[in-house]
Amino acid sequence: GAGGTGGEAEGPKPLDELVVGFAQVGAESGWRTANTKDIQAAFADAGIELKFSDAQQKQENQIKAIRSYIQQGVDYIAFSPVVETGWDAVLNEAKAAGIPVVLTDRAVDSKDESLYVSFLGSDFIEEGKKAGDWVLEEYKDTTEPVNIVQLEGTTGAAPAIDRAEGFAEVIAENPNLEVVASQTGDFTRAGGKQVMEAMLKSQPDIDLVYAHNDDMGLGAIEAIEAAGLVPGEDIKIVTVDAVKDGMQALADGKINFIVECSPLLGAQLVEIIETLNDGGTVEKRIITEETTFTQEQAVEALPDRKY
Ligand code: AHR
Repeated sequence: GAGGTGGEAEGPKPLDELVVGFAQVGAESGWRTANTKDIQAAFADAGIELKFSDAQQKQENQIKAIRSYIQQGVDYIAFSPVVETGWDAVLNEAKAAGIPVVLTDRAVDSKDESLYVSFLGSDFIEEGKKAGDWVLEEYKDTTEPVNIVQLEGTTGAAPAIDRAEGFAEVIAENPNLEVVASQTGDFTRAGGKQVMEAMLKSQPDIDLVYAHNDDMGLGAIEAIEAAGLVPGEDIKIVTVDAVKDGMQALADGKINFIVECSPLLGAQLVEIIETLNDGGTVEKRIITEETTFTQEQAVEALPDRKY
């Protein structure tokens, strides 16, 4: 304004002058790879510079990356937190530097909601419930115990906590459904395989595997086949994500049901940044729309699947 007090908004920056720092979890799964590609492509399309870092599934690396973005004076920071807790200090540093933070995909567990402007991503509890609903229906006429093993995502990560919670809540409706073993496979194929191999030895009669993502389910398939059993028949498998390899296994009858978790968050993230840059306000919570797939639906959907 005329007085030049600096108290009013500076107005939008040209998009080609904006710099956004994105701190990614890692490259642990097919989902994550698709998510990274989609975000990078969306920013390239919008003509906005994106600085990208891969934390290799370690919170300390992600904190370092965020601190470096603060130091470089980026305009916005977006990140997908490896785990839920332990973010207050670094997010307060971003706040003090006046850099708005957008959470993508995963939530932080903090009492202070002013530490981020928006959280864009799936409702993981709902995903767990959808997996539970399928299991409930599949075994509704069973009078005998159903032994379920759970392959958990990264310990402390929002999707691991919430997918376990939503599932447990739903299957509690039928006392025959029991999770007899539950262990983390860290959202990786190798992790899922290793945990499943051990479970096949320690659990005599597994009816169903609930894996928190496709990759761990695909690892479990390898372990089940190596044990001379038929995945999808001798042992049923329910997973979350619906990436191409998962959908192929579903179409092939090796997985029985997949709950979709969409990694395509790039366009919406760009939209949030552009809105903020224009001085607009964004929703505090933006929930991704997603569906579920049976084996028949996977056969139909596969040809058009982008990732
Ligand atoms: O946070 C989303 C989860 O992280 C995906 O379901 C999983 O595949 C990824 O590693």
